[in-house]
Amino acid sequence: MCGIVGYLGEKKASDVILSGLKKLEYRGYDSCGITFFDEGNHRFVTYKDKGRVNHLVEDFDYSFFNRLGIGHTRWATHGRPNQINSHPHFSETTRFSVVHNGVIENYKELTVKYLADVHFVSETDTEVIADLIERFSQEMSVEEAIRKTLSLIEGSYALLILDTENPSVMYAAKNKSPLLIGTALEGITLASDIMALVGYATQYLPIEDKVFTVVCRQPDGSVGFRMHDILGHRIEMPLQKLDLALDEIGMGGYSHYMLKEICEQPAVVRKIVARYFEGDDFVVSPKIHQVLKKAEKIYIIAAGTSMHAGFVGRYLLENIAKKPAEVFIASEFAYNPPLLCANPAFLFISQSGETADLRTCLVKIKEMGYPSVTITNVPTSTLAREADHFMEICAGPEIAVASTKAYVGQVVILAILAHCLADRKVFDLKEELSKVAVAMEALIDKREYIHALVREKITKRNCFYIGRGLDFFTCLEAALKLKEISYIQTEGFAAAELKHGTIALIEDGVPVIAIISQKNVNNLTRANIREVLSRGANKIVISLNRLSDPSDELVLMDVHEMLSPMLTVIPTQLIAFYSALDLGRDIDKPRNLAKSVTVE
Ligand code: F6R
Repeated sequence: MCGIVGYLGEKKASDVILSGLKKLEYRGYDSCGITFFDEGNHRFVTYKDKGRVNHLVEDFDYSFFNRLGIGHTRWATHGRPNQINSHPHFSETTRFSVVHNGVIENYKELTVKYLADVHFVSETDTEVIADLIERFSQEMSVEEAIRKTLSLIEGSYALLILDTENPSVMYAAKNKSPLLIGTALEGITLASDIMALVGYATQYLPIEDKVFTVVCRQPDGSVGFRMHDILGHRIEMPLQKLDLALDEIGMGGYSHYMLKEICEQPAVVRKIVARYFEGDDFVVSPKIHQVLKKAEKIYIIAAGTSMHAGFVGRYLLENIAKKPAEVFIASEFAYNPPLLCANPAFLFISQSGETADLRTCLVKIKEMGYPSVTITNVPTSTLAREADHFMEICAGPEIAVASTKAYVGQVVILAILAHCLADRKVFDLKEELSKVAVAMEALIDKREYIHALVREKITKRNCFYIGRGLDFFTCLEAALKLKEISYIQTEGFAAAELKHGTIALIEDGVPVIAIISQKNVNNLTRANIREVLSRGANKIVISLNRLSDPSDELVLMDVHEMLSPMLTVIPTQLIAFYSALDLGRDIDKPRNLAKSVTVE
């Protein structure tokens, strides 16, 4: 989704902003723009256009001395991606410049009520914000005008605002959409993602909803900030140390972030073990244990890949901890909730911790007074902060849009939770996880073989994954991964279900990839493979060694059956990666997608 970066300080603002926008590219966008104050000529300069940040960097002039500016990457919601709809947007007289993430739901009503005479340039909801501020500032101070605007707008927003009549101040506000402030001796950076602060801030603070922030250059030249509530009362919030280093978000010699992140998965498993085990004991917060143990049923709320991790989690909670659990698509749960049991607990699973669909559910759950736990890779995220408790996935920054190591990390955390809630030890999880990490390494070392398989077998515009039980969940995730980065239409099926209609799509050469890691359904899945083979399918069978057949294309080292999704998903990630590579796709930034989906 959209990204925001703003800077006021001693460094060249355009450098800080453009490098921040580059770091936010992974979130997905279609246009970008920047406004900065050219101190030599005492004027504000704006560049914006459809396309990549590289275009913004390479095709415009930043030779001017500038220490204040705001920038934006846009993922279109109101109006097509084009130069005019790109941010920053301006008020009618161009006095106020605004960048905005989120959606203003009542912008039409506000236009009719306050701005009927204004000529709008763009199709966006953002322009209304700039115009309201300008309108109100004719009767009150700029700060009051912004606070009044904030009190009227409904929806989600992270906003940075510049007043061209005062080039020593930058204003910020947020509701629902994330916004962080980062401080360093040389200046203050505001950004929608912590990544953009790396290298420019030593301390940071996630800004709370409805908080209005003023960043200003003091008479002595230093830069400071203050925060207010919507009525103007001062708010004090402590800064935290920023621990992320630049090399953690680099490509580390790999051609793509996605490949790097796939290869990091054995290390992620070991890191999580180190974080959540002390000797053979679990290090899980007693409060989380208590909340989940006490619950009659655990409702898992998630979207996309994280929901697929949720399916595996449900299986593990029910089979290891004997705890009833159910998985819900967040966007459906939000407006069509099921009849809840009397004593529920809610588990939110989210790589980014910012997914708007989940946040809507969390707000409702909290209103109902039910306990919530978030599993997320971003401890500073909204869902981590707003749930009663959170568990960190510890996968390290995931930059590629397609989630890989965060998914595996989520499944590992869910396995730990299930074991920790069990009344008796079902198996030695720590020992079995270390076997998983070894098997992952062996598999990743064979990745060129998987590339060859892809070249030979994935030759059509459609594809199927089939499996049963836990393998079915991996098929859902495998299909999502392949379609989102290669654009090959792929479906994940419960193996037997295919013949209830969809088998009509099987014809000569259609790739059908089967996953076999569950002993009780091995023979049944193999029967389903024969059904598609006799209709011309091009098969790839991925099996665990102990269940394998000599004709299987890819045989994986044995791991515990209940942990197999952590391993079997890896060849599917590599199949997706190599298919996309051979098709020349933009692997780390697939079209139309965003890393964190901050609108409903
Ligand atoms: C796909 C993918 C998405 C996300 C989904 C939820 O590779 O990453 O399907 O899983 O958008 O995002 P989070 O996990 O951040 O809540």
